Amino acid sequence: PLVPVKELLKKAEEGKYAVGAFNVNNMEIVQAILAAAEAERAPVIMQASQGAIKYAGIEYIYALASLAASQATVPVALHLDHGTSFEQCMKCIRVGFTSVMIDGSKLPLEENIALTNKVLEVARATGVSVEAELGKIGGTEDDIHVDEKEAFFTDPEEARYFVEKTGVDALAPSVGTAHGQYKGIPKLDFPRLEKIAQLVKIPLVLHGSSGVPDEAIQEAIRLGVRKVNIDTNIREAFTNTCREVLGKNPKEIDPRKVLGPAREAATQVIREKIRVFGSAGRA
Ligand code: G3H
Ligand code: 13P
Ligand code: ZN
Repeated sequence: PLVPVKELLKKAEEGKYAVGAFNVNNMEIVQAILAAAEAERAPVIMQASQGAIKYAGIEYIYALASLAASQATVPVALHLDHGTSFEQCMKCIRVGFTSVMIDGSKLPLEENIALTNKVLEVARATGVSVEAELGKIGGTEDDIHVDEKEAFFTDPEEARYFVEKTGVDALAPSVGTAHGQYKGIPKLDFPRLEKIAQLVKIPLVLHGSSGVPDEAIQEAIRLGVRKVNIDTNIREAFTNTCREVLGKNPKEIDPRKVLGPAREAATQVIREKIRVFGSAGRA
C-alpha cells in the first residue's frame, strides 16, 4: 500500500538525505519511477500536479500509483502537488493520497495560514500529511527581473511564524528556484535557506529542482531540504526520446515502440536524481 509521506520525511531527516518527489502523468512515468526506486532501493514519492489531474484524473493517478505501491518492495507514497483548494485536498484524501500540498502562496499571510489550518484539521484525522508554500515559487517563464525576484523569496521570520501558527508537516520556501526549464543556471539563496531551516525545524521542500546543479541540490539537502520535486527533467527525457525514435523511424505507428524507450530514458534520469538526493539504498 501507499505509505505516509510523514514517515518518509522523518527517516530522511534522521539520515540527512532527501526523498525524490517525481511528477506522474501516465502509466509509463509511474512505471519509470517505480523501476528507478526499485533499482536504487530508494523510498519515493509520486505526485500529481494540476496538469496531471486535468490530463489523467485523480482516480487514474491514484489507481496507477497504488498499483505500483502494491507491487513495490520499496516505500511508495502519493502526494497532491500544488493543491489549489480545500475541496481538491479533500478529494485527494478521500481517494487515498497519503499527502497533500495546499498552495496558499498567492494569498495574504493570514489567509494562507487559515487555509492551511483548514486542510490540516481534516488531514490530521486521516494520517495524511500536509505541505504548504510560503513566498512565491514562480515559473522560469514568468517575466520577472532578477532584482524583483527576491521580493517573492520567503522571509525566514515569516516562515517561523507560519509554522508556529499551523504545525504543517513540510514547508516549500521560495529560495531562488522556479518551475520549468531554466534559461541560465539558477542561483539559490543558501543563507536564506539555512536561516529558514534553523527557525522552522520541519522538513523543507525544494520545488523547481530540474536543472539545478547537483552540488546545489546537495547543499540544499545539507541545509535541511528533505523532499526534492522533479518534473521538467522527466518530461525532457521522456519527450526527447519520443522525438528521437520518431525522427529515426517516421513510419512507426506502434505507440509501445515510442513510449517504451521513453519510459527507459525517464527511468535513467530518475535513478540519477535518487543518487544525487542520497536516498539510494535507504529502503
Ligand atoms: O507544479 C508544477 C509542475 O511541474 C507542472 O505542472 O503539470 O500543471 O503543468 P503542470
Ligand atoms: P520542475 O518541473 O522545475 O522540476 O519542478 C517540479 C515541481 O516543483 C513540482 O511541484
Ligand atoms: Zn512545485
